[in-house]
Amino acid sequence: MLEISNLNVRYGAIQGVRGISLTVKAGEIVALIGANGAGKSTTVRAIAGLLPFTGDIAYEGQKLRPNAAEKNLRAGIALVPEGRGILGRMTVEENLQMGIYCRSDHAEALIDINRMYDRFPILRERRGNLASLLSGGEQQMLAIARALLSRPKLLLLDEPSLGLAPKMTSFVFDLIGSLRKEGLTVMLVEQKARHTLKIADRAYLLEMGKVVTSGMAESLANDPQISEAFLGGRAVNI
Ligand SMILES: Nc1ncnc2c1ncn2[C@@H]1O[C@H](COP(=O)(O)OP(=O)(O)OP(=O)(O)O)[C@@H](O)[C@H]1O
Ligand SMILES: [Mg+2]
Repeated sequence: MLEISNLNVRYGAIQGVRGISLTVKAGEIVALIGANGAGKSTTVRAIAGLLPFTGDIAYEGQKLRPNAAEKNLRAGIALVPEGRGILGRMTVEENLQMGIYCRSDHAEALIDINRMYDRFPILRERRGNLASLLSGGEQQMLAIARALLSRPKLLLLDEPSLGLAPKMTSFVFDLIGSLRKEGLTVMLVEQKARHTLKIADRAYLLEMGKVVTSGMAESLANDPQISEAFLGGRAVNI
């Protein structure tokens, strides 16, 4: 579904990603793990079309152009950005309506908003509240619900568990598992590596903008390089 080869992204003089290659097959959960500044967000933001890049990103056999966020969204790529990216001064309902702006099937999209409320009843309860008044976990639900409303095929989640209490973190991880069962393909950026490797099929470990190791999640969980990164205090949470 996604094939990246030799991806390079620069922020002026700073190189965020240095020659990353990776693949995601339809129906997989693929994790990108690594410490602060490893290049995880840069990679998913480039896939979403939010950054200039060199190298190739092919999605369903078509090369993606840099900075083509709206086109990529219409093609089925949705990003839940780091920090959630919800609009705090807008209501929950207005935030959800942002999620359907790219859809031409308006009537069906409105039904989908209702389906999202069925899936996340707390959002229905809070539909008229300002999004800034939601708890961290509720905001993350809202961000994911908004992304799902574009009816993506590939969902890019950038640190969805960041700042959440353990119970809410488990909720989010369970949700990702159910979304996959419903046929969604997921790229999951996380620092909570151990938890992530439990739900992912495969994972890539990034360091300094490069892939340093990759493989089946199950075997990576026992990989010394991973244990060193997670247990050696290099700023990666277990
Ligand atoms: N807007 C920016 N301008 C300049 N440099 C940036 C920018 N965003 C990221 N970088 C740099 O690019 C590199 C990769 O950053 P990136 O945000 O992709 O890392 P990350 O793996 O997502 O880290 P974190 O876990 O902290 O979110 C880092 O060196 C970072 O300082
Ligand atoms: Mg990041």
